[in-house]
Amino acid sequence: MNANFATTDLTITRIDRLDDPALMAGLEALLEDAVASGASVGYHAPLSPALNRDFWTGVSRQLEGGAHRLLVARAPDGTVLGSVQLALCTRPNGAHRAEVQKLLVLTRHRGRGIARRLMTDVEEFARGLGRSLLVLDTLKGNVGEPFYERTGWMRAGEIPGYTVEADGSRHATVLFYKNI
Ligand SMILES: CC(C)(COP(=O)(O)OP(=O)(O)OC[C@H]1O[C@@H](n2cnc3c(N)ncnc32)[C@H](O)[C@@H]1OP(=O)(O)O)[C@@H](O)C(=O)NCCC(=O)NCCS
Repeated sequence: MNANFATTDLTITRIDRLDDPALMAGLEALLEDAVASGASVGYHAPLSPALNRDFWTGVSRQLEGGAHRLLVARAPDGTVLGSVQLALCTRPNGAHRAEVQKLLVLTRHRGRGIARRLMTDVEEFARGLGRSLLVLDTLKGNVGEPFYERTGWMRAGEIPGYTVEADGSRHATVLFYKNI
């Protein structure tokens, strides 16, 4: 894979169906890399290929359900660099709201503004769908926390003991929101 591309050359596209084996393989590599890097995205390292496949199969089903969106950032050669998901609230009192989930950028491409671009696009996309309030949660003390603070999200509070890590320790999660 050629890493010598400018961040401005990457493309971010909305994916409606996960029926392209190359894309699926790229997304699996992305999740495996994130879990191996210590990201708290639901799994303990090492992530088994079966759990990895189950995760993206589940996303595929959610996309078919219509209340879920997936944006993928790719290099000019097609390499998957990052992704983010948006879960649209379907209840009548939450029609203005959506949850941002699983913002991931390949370890070796972090710090180049890829997540910032993904979040700009997902916000624009959510706005286009009439959503004016975004929410998310991220592990306290992990890389997501400074990222969201740097990118204009408001801290709503913390839930202690929200996750159980591989060593049995419990970790707090931080809730963020953004009016867009
Ligand atoms: C969090 C994550 C998505 C950031 O991706 P990235 O592409 O490296 O982020 P960007 O380069 O777009 O950074 C945007 C801003 O956040 C800041 N930032 C990003 N990572 C940071 C870190 N680890 N510590 C401090 N600031 C950080 C950058 O400095 C930058 O600010 P600036 O533009 O004002 O300089 C990436 O580290 C990742 O995939 N982590 C694993 C998965 C995860 O934890 N996701 C979030 C919770 S679901």
